[in-house]
Amino acid sequence: MSTSEPYRTLTTRGWIFFTTLWILAAASLYNGAALARCQTAEAIPAAAQISAGTPQNDGLWWKHAVIYEIYPRSFQDSDGDGIGDLNGITERLDYLQSLGVDAVWLSPIYPSPQVDFGYDISDYENVDPQYGTLADFDKLVAEAKKRDIRIIMDMVMNHTSDKHKWFVESEASKSNPKRDWYVWRDAKGVGANGKPLPPNNWISVFGGSAWEYDPKTKQFYYHKFYKQQPDLNWRNPAVENAMFDSVRFWLDRNVAGFRLDAIPTLFEDPQMRDEPATGGINAQSDPNLSDIYTNNLPQVHDVMRRLRAVTDKYPGNRVLIGETYLPNVQDLDKWYGGAQRNELQLPMDMQVGFTNKLDASLFRQRINDAQTQINGNQPLFVFDNHDNVRSWDRYGDGVHDEAIARLLATVLFTSRAATLMYYGEELGMVTTTPTRKQDVKDPIGITGWPKEKGRDGERTPMQWDDSKNAGFSTAATTWLPVAENYHTTNVKTEEGNPDSLLNWHKKLIAMRRSDTTLRDGKQVMLDETNPFVLSYARESVGENPAIIVALNFTGEPRTITLDPSTAGITGKTVSTLITDAPSLRQVSSLQHMTLPPYASWVGSVK
Ligand code: NOJ
Repeated sequence: MSTSEPYRTLTTRGWIFFTTLWILAAASLYNGAALARCQTAEAIPAAAQISAGTPQNDGLWWKHAVIYEIYPRSFQDSDGDGIGDLNGITERLDYLQSLGVDAVWLSPIYPSPQVDFGYDISDYENVDPQYGTLADFDKLVAEAKKRDIRIIMDMVMNHTSDKHKWFVESEASKSNPKRDWYVWRDAKGVGANGKPLPPNNWISVFGGSAWEYDPKTKQFYYHKFYKQQPDLNWRNPAVENAMFDSVRFWLDRNVAGFRLDAIPTLFEDPQMRDEPATGGINAQSDPNLSDIYTNNLPQVHDVMRRLRAVTDKYPGNRVLIGETYLPNVQDLDKWYGGAQRNELQLPMDMQVGFTNKLDASLFRQRINDAQTQINGNQPLFVFDNHDNVRSWDRYGDGVHDEAIARLLATVLFTSRAATLMYYGEELGMVTTTPTRKQDVKDPIGITGWPKEKGRDGERTPMQWDDSKNAGFSTAATTWLPVAENYHTTNVKTEEGNPDSLLNWHKKLIAMRRSDTTLRDGKQVMLDETNPFVLSYARESVGENPAIIVALNFTGEPRTITLDPSTAGITGKTVSTLITDAPSLRQVSSLQHMTLPPYASWVGSVK
């Protein structure tokens, strides 16, 4: 799969297998077990001890936001049916406030046949009864606001459900006024088997032809995703009008913005040219194709500018976040509108969080690109979501997993960027892939079995405590099984342990909220040729001193000498702010610092 493809589940799973073997071999050379349990420093600056829920005075709230993705089916079940719901989320807002979350992105909660668990929407202006009601939604928004937490909706504009009334009308006849709201084409001819041939070779991200034949009207419709998700025709202005009306519906209900699903795929080549084959086949047994005619077409930017004009009419700096898997940082910049900044405020940067390799040089280059190549726009970094194997498993080596998770969290929260995290990432929730085909819920896991086992593994219920179903639900069975490690990996246990991964996240987030340097200071790489240790400075802002971050990306101890004067930092007094290496709690010089395997160190210089 190319880096521009929206889903990396296939790449990722294949990659994990080989890389984990490699890392495990390296790790066995070093007895790192004791270090994997090392303690976090107590030295949290007083300013960072503020309530994590303290509001910020920054008008552009999204610039430094910690945005927390909730997969509503899996967060908290309030009515005992084994499926999470809106009232469940409302019950857990205090937890989100204590973590320091600024905004919650809700994966789709609209009425839906749930073929793609909500990404197949049948009504854009309501709530699916299994998640609650519009009144429950309004209550969630109001209760969240009391805790300075904003609610962001997932807006799926590329496609609807085939049960949406627009599509039901569109498929009714070739002369229906909504016919042109979707992408309908004649067959290319008749195959040897007597069946109509699809208009071209385009394939669905989820496997098979991207064209579905409708015997009644004798045409094919296009679907980039499941056949139950027909693509809307964005060349028809009526589609844009209708979709923007739904956007206003939610803005009027006080949502803080939208995460735009699969947004680069809105347009297709009008000439319907075949996509070039790139060689080999994918896990769904389809030929690998470049997606130049179905992804990232330039017309999408006109729509983004018009959408931005809609959201900008509302008060409160509503935000547009893009699901933007893109091949390079130059393309990412276009999604901001470049220097004009008139498209999305926060297209996701997938280059850093999905490198899927603990490679300090690669992280350095990609973070640096985000800091220098996007016209000063604010990057949005992300390591986890509901479509990918959890970062715990993508980056872990099976020995130092928790230290590696702390290291990734440190990159996330000490970079100059807005941040996106996924429920359970703060606990060290693991991917729990189904072991039997009959247990799989995600359709791609059924059609792709056993090569592609689907995305259930990263969608298991949130782990609140060590009671039945991890406190997620009182049901006899939950929609997906709770991961086995919930007895020890859960909110309650981790809240009680000062050295837990959860408390590491809380401390870093609290530091970010209170420290102007961590929020806005320029991020400048140090020791730039070091292949093992990623280190950078954050230039001082206001009263707060400069900050230095050093992260050992390897399973061996590494000694570094940092010279922050290369970043214009002249102070000589060094002190540790946070570290998970006991040996680094009292650092007073940046000369000959030895970082244990996968250790994280953050300090100040003045
Ligand atoms: C991206 C979403 O994240 C994924 O879960 C979904 O299946 C596709 N888009 C289709 O909407």
